[in-house]
Amino acid sequence: MATLSLRGPAGSSSLSLRPRRAAARPDLRLRPVRITAAIGGDGAVCEPDLRVRVNGLEMPNPFVIGSGPPGTNYTVMKRAFDEGWGAVIAKTVSLDAAKVVNVTPRYARLRAGSNGSAKGPIIGWENIELISDRPLETMLNEFKQLKEEYPNRILIASIMEEYNKDAWQELIERVEATGVDALEINFSCPHGMPERKMGAAVGQDCTLLEEVCGWINEKATVPVWAKMTPNITDISQPARVALKSGCEGISAINTIMSVMGIDLNTLRPEPCVEGYSTPGGYSARAVHPIALGKVMQIAKMMKTEFGNTDCSLSGIGGVETGGDTAEFILLGANTVQVCTGVMMHGYGLVNKLCAELKDFMRKHNFSSIEDFRGVSLQYFTTHTDLVKRQQQAIRQRKAVRKGLQSDKEWTGDGFVKESESMVSN
Ligand SMILES: Cc1cc2nc3c(=O)[nH]c(=O)nc-3n(C[C@H](O)[C@H](O)[C@H](O)COP(=O)(O)O)c2cc1C
Repeated sequence: MATLSLRGPAGSSSLSLRPRRAAARPDLRLRPVRITAAIGGDGAVCEPDLRVRVNGLEMPNPFVIGSGPPGTNYTVMKRAFDEGWGAVIAKTVSLDAAKVVNVTPRYARLRAGSNGSAKGPIIGWENIELISDRPLETMLNEFKQLKEEYPNRILIASIMEEYNKDAWQELIERVEATGVDALEINFSCPHGMPERKMGAAVGQDCTLLEEVCGWINEKATVPVWAKMTPNITDISQPARVALKSGCEGISAINTIMSVMGIDLNTLRPEPCVEGYSTPGGYSARAVHPIALGKVMQIAKMMKTEFGNTDCSLSGIGGVETGGDTAEFILLGANTVQVCTGVMMHGYGLVNKLCAELKDFMRKHNFSSIEDFRGVSLQYFTTHTDLVKRQQQAIRQRKAVRKGLQSDKEWTGDGFVKESESMVSN
C-alpha cells in the first residue's frame, strides 16, 4: 500500500484525469465494504487516502465547492483550486444573465442562543440570491481559462434554463465547449427562478423533470449530476426520475425554503429590502440533520434500485467539520459539497476538513473513503421493526436475569455467565 505524498492539493497525491461520459467506472458502488487495516507491507501505519473517483472523475479529496458565491468568478475558483479543494462547482449560469437581477441585502443569519442573541455562533443562513448575474460569455471564458491553467483539476459547471429544449441544449453545448469536466443541473433553487419555471419548479414536478432530463442527457457528453430540492415530501422520487433519465449522479440538498425571522422593532421580515422580503433558502449547520435525512432516503433508494450501476451521490448541507463529512459518506455519499461553510470560514477550511476526516479514518482503521462509504445505511429500519427488536431484546434480558430454569441447561461455554445470572449481589 503506497503512502501518499502530502504535496499538491489537500489530501492528494498525483492524479491523472479527464474522463468522459462513457468512461468505465466499475469500482464505484453504493456498497458497504470493510475493513482493511491501514498498515503497509513494512508494518508502518499508512496515511489515510482521501482520493475519490466518481463517475470517472478523479479528485484529490471528496471536498467540493458547492455552487454559490464561493464559485462565482475566476479569482475565487482559482483560490479554491490553490487551497486544495477536490473539485469546484461554479455558480449556476443560464443563457441570458440580463434576466437575473439581484437585490441587496440578500442574506440573513441565525445565531444560536436565546432569541438569536448577537453573541451566539452562526448556525443558520438564509439567502434570496439568484443564479449568476454575470454575462454567460464572461463565465465561459473564465471556465476555459481555469481548465487551461488547472487541466488536472475538476471543474463542474452548474446550469439552469427555462422550460425550452433548444435553450437547454444550447447552454450545454456552449458550457461543454469550455472543457468543464461535468455538469450539475440546478433543479432546486427555491426562490426567484421558479417564477420563470426554473430551478425547484422543475425539481418538484417529476413529469417536467423527466422531460427536461431527457433533453439534457440527449445532449450532454460529460457526466451529469442532478441537484435536488429538499422542498418536497419524498426526495427519492425526483432522484429516481433523474437517474432513470440518464443522469450519472444526484446532489442533495439545495437550500430549504424559509423565512429567517421578523424584526420585532420594525415588524418587517429579514432579509429586508426596501421594507419588504420574500422567502429564501436556508443553509449552514442548522440544515445538516435535514440534509442527512434526505441523503439517507436517496441513498437507500439508490442502493435498492441502482445498486449495480455506478451512479454517484454528493451530500450537501451544513458541512463545517470532518465529522459532518464522515456522516454523509457513511450514508453513501461519494463527495460532499460546502457552500455556506466557505462563506463563513474561507477557502482554507478544506485543510481542516481533510485533517479531521483523516483523524476519523485513523480512529477506525479505514484506509480509503470506499472502506466506510455507505456503512451506516444498514442501521436504518422502520419504526415497526425497532419495536420488534426492542421487545425481543427485553425478552432476552429478562430470560438472562431469571437464570437457568433447570440444571440441565448449564453449558460449558456460558458457565461463568450462567453462574452470574443467578447471583443476587
Ligand atoms: C448565498 C448562496 C447562494 C447559492 N447559490 C446557488 C446557486 O447559484 N446554485 C445552486 O445550485 N445552489 C446555490 N446555493 C445552494 C448551495 O450550493 C447549497 O446547496 C446549500 O447552501 C446547502 O449547503 P451549505 O449548507 O454548505 O451552504 C447557494 C447557497 C447560498 C448560501
